[in-house]
Amino acid sequence: MTQAYTIIDHTFDVVVVGAGGSGLRATVACVESGLNTACISKVFPTRSHTVAAQGGIASSLGNMGPDDWRWHMYDTVKGSDWLGDQDAIEYMVREAVPSIIELEHYGVPFSRTEDGKIYQRPFGGMTTEFGQGPAAQRTCAAADSTGHAILHTLYQQSLKHHAQFFVEYFALDLIMDEEGACRGVIAWNLADGSIHRFRAQRVILATGGYGRAYFSCTAAHTCTGDGNAMALRAGLPTQDMEFVQFHPTGIYGAGVLITEGVRGEGGILRNNSGERFMERYAPTYKDLASRDEVSRSMTMEIREGRGVGERGDHIHLDLTHLDPNVINKRLPGIAKHAKVFAGVDVTKQPIPVIPTCHYNMGGVQTNFHGEVVTMQGDDPHAVVPGLMAVGEAACVSVHGANRLGSNSLLDLVVFGRAAGLRCGAELTPGATQAELPSTANDRALERLDRTRHAKGETAPSALREEMQRTMQECAAVFRTGDTLEEGVQRLTTMWDKKADIGLADRSLIWNSELMEALEFDNLSYQAVATMKAARNRTESRGAHSREDYNQRDDKDWMKHSLIWVNDEGKAKIDYRPVKLETMTKDVEVFPPQKRVY
Ligand code: FUM
Repeated sequence: MTQAYTIIDHTFDVVVVGAGGSGLRATVACVESGLNTACISKVFPTRSHTVAAQGGIASSLGNMGPDDWRWHMYDTVKGSDWLGDQDAIEYMVREAVPSIIELEHYGVPFSRTEDGKIYQRPFGGMTTEFGQGPAAQRTCAAADSTGHAILHTLYQQSLKHHAQFFVEYFALDLIMDEEGACRGVIAWNLADGSIHRFRAQRVILATGGYGRAYFSCTAAHTCTGDGNAMALRAGLPTQDMEFVQFHPTGIYGAGVLITEGVRGEGGILRNNSGERFMERYAPTYKDLASRDEVSRSMTMEIREGRGVGERGDHIHLDLTHLDPNVINKRLPGIAKHAKVFAGVDVTKQPIPVIPTCHYNMGGVQTNFHGEVVTMQGDDPHAVVPGLMAVGEAACVSVHGANRLGSNSLLDLVVFGRAAGLRCGAELTPGATQAELPSTANDRALERLDRTRHAKGETAPSALREEMQRTMQECAAVFRTGDTLEEGVQRLTTMWDKKADIGLADRSLIWNSELMEALEFDNLSYQAVATMKAARNRTESRGAHSREDYNQRDDKDWMKHSLIWVNDEGKAKIDYRPVKLETMTKDVEVFPPQKRVY
């Protein structure tokens, strides 16, 4: 039986869960609209994973040469391998321009050109003239610490507008009512062990991705997709979970990110004979092809015996030909990372790199206002009252099957802002809220209590590693029906063992064992969703590369996966069409084409 917990109640107009780039941008927009807004975060806001974003944020400002939001739109549709919804993509690339100017006015210290404009660098898959012109210089950068610069600025803006922060509060579960509306969220204060019940007109999930479902990833240990798991436990689907991005250049062994900005500034990938092999795979854009393409090419080089190192199992990223001033001015952070994590001086030696799990294209299904939507009867776009999702937690879908580098920070800012603006337009500050249902705490506290008092033989950390290795081995850059089937079986075994977990620490104050057990539980739902959705999709598209179905199949598969996972680890999968309509008449739909770089 659930032990009695003392509950501390709060009422806000809006509660934002997560204080990374999207959460803080949503928070700023809500408080600017006069809404009483709480932002709850399991880490101090400026420690959120956005702080690790390096290379930049895309926007067709045209500071370094001609650019156009329509070119950015074309690149994003193509990058998505025609799985992105074109109305949402149009919204994102158009709003990219005012959103970045706004960030500049908020105080983000962007790098500058000689004449004082925001500096922009080339990034993979970003082109001009609808893929017919040279690479676009579209990615606005603050050296190679752009996420750090944006996160700190947004935190300062939130404080300026008196947003209320609940720091080191871990969200446990959503409060849903009988009509299926979200009415708030239950959270655990990690520092003093108290339980808090937040009632709100809107809850905005801004909880980031679930990179830690994999053994080697560029994501922080905190990236456990808590919002996705809360949505799944609330009976809502996640969308397109089979699409997991591997960044071409994680440091070999450490997984630490080396920004694509390195290749944007002229860095080159080389195999064991020093060959610039990307010329063979992507003759036009070479090292600046899209990420899925570059990661596959690197993997092919390694498989075919042209990898570097004693085991021939990685690739070199060569910067030694770059002017040291470029490195000092534009890439100072990665020079340090390479020294610390790989022991190399980038002016003299190449960096050992390998494709590393980096980003989840899938997440909670939303429209481009940030409202969570679900399947109701035949309608796959029914709004879930009271619930929104933004950033990597959400699947709008603007990235489709493969995200372009520097469209992530953009997604955070544009859709965080959109969600806040929607709240501002639709909510009345201080409006009276109905009483919460009598069952409001049940699910969250039952799960907390069960985990806290678990007396089995299995350490949650051992099960977590079992899951991470399964994901790494069975659902990586290349997949087959066999590896995915094996992955499903291994995850089923892992799920069954969850009934036997045991914890040593039963306290509620800074109980990191309990928190990690709950985070692992969250990851396990998403691992199952990813593996099963990938097993079902019998084609290759974007980051989902099936060796047994190596072609894109628009006839049968130009559709989004919707996947539900219940508390027994059982999944249900359905599909909805890709939106092949634009938001306005200012641009025409980009029809599917063969994707070459
Ligand atoms: O390579 C990078 O700097 C990463 C950027 C991104 O994922 O958007």
